[in-house]
Amino acid sequence: MTGSFVVFEGIEGCGKTTQLQRTCDWLRSRVRGSVVVTREPGGTELGRQLRTVLLEVREGEPIGDRAELLLYAADRAQHVERSIKPQLASGAIVLCDRYTDSTVAYQGYGRQLNRELIDRLNHIATGGLEPDLTLWLDVEPEIGLDRARKRGEANRLEREALDFHRRVRQGYAALAQQYPHRIVRIDGRRSPDEVEKKVQQILTERLSLKLSGLELPPTWMRDTGDNG
Ligand code: TYD
Repeated sequence: MTGSFVVFEGIEGCGKTTQLQRTCDWLRSRVRGSVVVTREPGGTELGRQLRTVLLEVREGEPIGDRAELLLYAADRAQHVERSIKPQLASGAIVLCDRYTDSTVAYQGYGRQLNRELIDRLNHIATGGLEPDLTLWLDVEPEIGLDRARKRGEANRLEREALDFHRRVRQGYAALAQQYPHRIVRIDGRRSPDEVEKKVQQILTERLSLKLSGLELPPTWMRDTGDNG
């Protein structure tokens, strides 16, 4: 794989979708190669259909926990094979809204499904493809859910109880401990501009070798002024 694979993670309302878009704009104005934005669930044609099934609030028969897990895995398998791998092979920087850590956090910690099973399924779905870097935007569930609520109608997972979202956050914390070489925690309570600067700083540091086409103004590293 010659490209770079960067994933944004966090609970509802952590700000990752905004940051992903800003990062994309920033990178596009600085790198020569292509920068692609994608997401899970829903990064492919099949995935968009699965996304509707997964997120719509349904009357009647609820989706069982294991069926939910397998649907996310199906979305991911299609996404990796049809979109992420080919893009990376062509040298693109792929920015992805959620990936395998979401399944560990939501289905593993949130739904409390067996972690080993989830790790195995993630491996089957991805063929072992791991992100070069995962940015975890961390906020308390109270703050995140409040932000998400202001955005409009809550989806099926946003409607889960506060305790569920607390467990999801614990899941991310455990993952960050387990994979410190890959996952970087960012304080998501900061202003969008501060978070954006932090993301740019981390990307510059962590991907400097891979992003050799990155053209930064010489004073840029001094301007970020945030090492927290
Ligand atoms: P989305 O609207 O994309 O939420 P957000 O803007 O917070 O990313 O919905 C994705 C939802 O799917 C979100 O609630 C998290 C959930 N999810 C899982 O439970 N497991 C997974 O593996 C993935 C990828 C997402």
